Amino acid sequence: MSIEGRKPLLSYPEELRELVDSHLETIHFSRGDGVDGAETTGLDEAMRYSLLAGGKRIRPVLCLATARAIGQPTDDFLGAAAALEMIHTYSLVHDDLPAMDDDDLRRGKPTSHVKYGEAVAILAGDGLFAEAVGELARSPATPERVLEAVSLLSAATGVEGMVGGQYIDVSAQALDADGLRHLHSLKTGRLIRASIEVALALGGVTEASREPFRRFATQIGLLFQIVDDILDVTGSDEELGKPQGSDERHGKVTYVSLYGLDRARSLAAETHEGALAALAGAGGETEDLKRIADYIYSREQ
Ligand code: IPE
Ligand code: IPE
Ligand code: MG
Ligand code: MG
Ligand code: MG
Repeated sequence: MSIEGRKPLLSYPEELRELVDSHLETIHFSRGDGVDGAETTGLDEAMRYSLLAGGKRIRPVLCLATARAIGQPTDDFLGAAAALEMIHTYSLVHDDLPAMDDDDLRRGKPTSHVKYGEAVAILAGDGLFAEAVGELARSPATPERVLEAVSLLSAATGVEGMVGGQYIDVSAQALDADGLRHLHSLKTGRLIRASIEVALALGGVTEASREPFRRFATQIGLLFQIVDDILDVTGSDEELGKPQGSDERHGKVTYVSLYGLDRARSLAAETHEGALAALAGAGGETEDLKRIADYIYSREQ
């Protein structure tokens, strides 16, 4: 059953996910040539273990769907898409560490620190972050556009982005509804929004034409984390590929703990409607973006 007890309106754009997966497969991080007998192949293995473990690929698929919406070839955006997924994967590897959520299961497999130890897991996350910047920087666009994209990704990841959101999350601040919304907008929303904004920047879209896409991106970022909070309560380890009930075990303030399940579900429904309304104001071929919004709303994993 989907969260509102109804089927998804449209299905996920699987062919974009396949494009992302095949591109990620081609990426190797270590030269593996054992200079002076010392090698980094073990680090490369740990980075690729988490990166290629599966996952919904929502951020890179959003990037490619935005490229389509603005009439650009998706191939030119594969580096940016990979960069977004690498930053996201780094955030998951670190999020699961004992010092943070201390979770053992991710994408249906043992977490990085369980498999490789904490030191390697920390380095694998660091490595994915650094290599992501290079992936994006090599995008086939003008230097001005690439620079803007790198700057957007940095801001979305940093202190007023994902990392700042994780800080608020772990520092156990007493949160009211506005505080929780702010936490979610940083922790999850900023990287999701950046997945769209990076594509708009690389594509050289004018400021005025970006606005409806930005409104859509903000809504689906929020929607994504409301649904993540709901699934933490209603899902199972098997469906989620990560431990169910992690938020409650850690006493996290979530949309469910603050509002209860029913109100959280209706907030998800309202946010989904808001996303679609925003998208209606965007030009171009936005069908794939709508598919992703429907999927984020009705997903069970
Ligand atoms: C999980 O993200 C972490 C959050 C930001 C809530 P996803 O649900 O997108 O995880 P994967 O990439 O599909 O594994
Ligand atoms: C973490 O949020 C979001 C990140 C920035 C990684 P959660 O802690 O809720 O993510 P899950 O539920 O472990 O995937
Ligand atoms: Mg967490
Ligand atoms: Mg977690
Ligand atoms: Mg969660």
